[in-house]
Amino acid sequence: MINTKVTLAGVELKNPVMTASGTFGSGAEYSEFVDLNKLGGVVTKGVANVPWPGNPTPRVTETASGMLNAIGLQNPGIDLFCKRDIPFLKQYDTKIIVNVCGKSTEDYCEVVERLADEPVDLLEINVSCPNVKEGGIAFGQNPHALEAITKEVKKYAKQPIIMKLSPNVTDITEMAKAAEAGGADILSLINTLTGMKIDIYRRTFALANKTGGMSGPAVKPVAVRMVYQVAQAVGLPIIGMGGIATAEDALEFIMAGATAVSVGTANFFNPYATVEIAEGIEKFMVQQKVEDISQIIGIVK
Ligand SMILES: Cc1cc2nc3c(=O)[nH]c(=O)nc-3n(C[C@H](O)[C@H](O)[C@H](O)COP(=O)(O)O)c2cc1C
Repeated sequence: MINTKVTLAGVELKNPVMTASGTFGSGAEYSEFVDLNKLGGVVTKGVANVPWPGNPTPRVTETASGMLNAIGLQNPGIDLFCKRDIPFLKQYDTKIIVNVCGKSTEDYCEVVERLADEPVDLLEINVSCPNVKEGGIAFGQNPHALEAITKEVKKYAKQPIIMKLSPNVTDITEMAKAAEAGGADILSLINTLTGMKIDIYRRTFALANKTGGMSGPAVKPVAVRMVYQVAQAVGLPIIGMGGIATAEDALEFIMAGATAVSVGTANFFNPYATVEIAEGIEKFMVQQKVEDISQIIGIVK
């Protein structure tokens, strides 16, 4: 018997595989392909206090082994989300992690307060979106702002808080330490890397927003390096993500120090990716005689 269960701030996941915010909706559109009961957790698309329309199109484009997106956190707002999306996810035996976005500290706190009495297991605070003009990454690139917003959000939160870090910084460990100082329970990383693509025939930007967030297999080595650095720098559990498409990719993150992983862009080219990865981790553990996944979390020093 092998044990794939992991614990994040007291919340037990049946396995370490979750979805990455924004790439899986709130689970409904993928539930025809994926048995959500087989996932450690479902992380929803970012939700704000009021509906956001997102950015003008085009807002996604392909790159070598990856993509750029500038969706701009389009979402239905917290009211509809609580009425429609949480009851949908509640039908499944998986953990519910709600990704929260906002334009100001008050916006974030309002959503977190609204979720306090909802059947939600963890909250992931997105302070690292490169595609919105206000809020988002403005908090995630300044350690003082990051520590301050973490402290504020913690005042309103009943569930443990995951602070989602941006890779668009000089020193990721400085940001991890700031979130820890602010009282974060868990860290997740990486969000997307700011990028740009030019459409040479139209002689303009491929995305209406000019820049977008880069994700997919091309970013994986950067993400693994950052997870490793953060694991050495702070004592908090880490959710690792960035380019995970196979069980082997997920295991790299786990060995670098991630307790759990999130699968994002891979869902777009393989809707079965999450379940395949969960099953692949189990297979690896059997083959390699790893009885408990905790034996390999952060094994690389
Ligand atoms: C289309 C798209 C939408 C995203 N939306 C969100 C979001 O709403 N909130 C968030 O925190 N991250 C969002 N992300 C970032 C992902 O959750 C993830 O951190 C990133 O894409 C790296 O993982 P991946 O390479 O597996 O996609 C989005 C990514 C993509 C590609």
